[in-house]
Amino acid sequence: MKEKVEQYLNEIKHFVAETEEHAEDFRLKYLSKKGIVPSLFAELLNVAPEERKTMGQLLNNLKTTAQNKFEQLKASLSQKDQVKKETIDLTLPADYLNLGSRHPLSIVRNEIVSIFSRIGFRVNEGPEIEDDWHNFTALNFPKEHPARDMQDTFFIEKDPDILLRTHTSSVQIRVMQNEKPPIRSIFPGRVFRNEAISARAHCIFHQVEGLYIDENVSFADLKQTLYYFATELFGPDTKIRLRPSFFPFTEPSAEMDISCFICGGEGCKICKNTGWVEILGCGMVDPNVLAFCDIDPEKYTGFAFGMGIERITMLKYQINDIRLLFENDIRFLRQFESAL
Ligand code: PHE
Repeated sequence: MKEKVEQYLNEIKHFVAETEEHAEDFRLKYLSKKGIVPSLFAELLNVAPEERKTMGQLLNNLKTTAQNKFEQLKASLSQKDQVKKETIDLTLPADYLNLGSRHPLSIVRNEIVSIFSRIGFRVNEGPEIEDDWHNFTALNFPKEHPARDMQDTFFIEKDPDILLRTHTSSVQIRVMQNEKPPIRSIFPGRVFRNEAISARAHCIFHQVEGLYIDENVSFADLKQTLYYFATELFGPDTKIRLRPSFFPFTEPSAEMDISCFICGGEGCKICKNTGWVEILGCGMVDPNVLAFCDIDPEKYTGFAFGMGIERITMLKYQINDIRLLFENDIRFLRQFESAL
């Protein structure tokens, strides 16, 4: 029996467990009710009484050795487990990062800003919440002008009137109040009009306004600037035409058409068979407006123009519903990734 115990002690010492199951096998083999250790204790009854004491000590030693070994096995396995969980495999491919794309309106706005900055225009911004004076009065709108009606404009407060700006022309006024000529600046921004939402119109949209004030600025300067802009944005073959129009803050006023870049002037759906598409309003700054901003209209002249970014974006990318630009449907927006 003594030899058997020695042999088991040796076996226990060299036992290795790779998994939890191995450790459990060990427990079953030595320590469970029917395992080696309890059965050796049972055999103790058959040992001669004078040897029982030493054998008992040997068996006790075997039992504690087996118990300690089992604890040790469990501890080292759980440590291994921990290490496994914390190890990062640097050879694995990285997680796919879903990148966004630039919104088509931002792409077009950035392009417009870049075209004008190449000929010396700076960028200014103004508040979306305006007072009546900056949005209407200083822009020479008469008291009874329909734009001043609740039907057309979102008012936040009446008397004194606080409203959501209906155009970026309000920024003209702020810039002319704060700076002295020469002024050469563009103002991109969001504007608001009380309109029913449809495929063609939205109550929120974006404009870029331009303003140039200096001595001897003429209508020819306006025309040349806009011609440069049109050819940069729509291609070198683009032609422009100016039609007389009316805005309270410019005199004379005009609307600018470009030759249809889809059919080249032949006539198609986009230009409604006219060969021309309207893209902006413009004119020479009305002397009253200069005077409202303390700029001497005898000394200075200037031109202004304003365009809708949605309209230009829709023309450029042939988008037939303005609402697509505001829904932020990822399937729509993804199509502009390549334009980055
Ligand atoms: N503010 C005008 C609009 O919203 C556009 C415009 C700007 C016209 C500057 C002339 C000069 O329609």
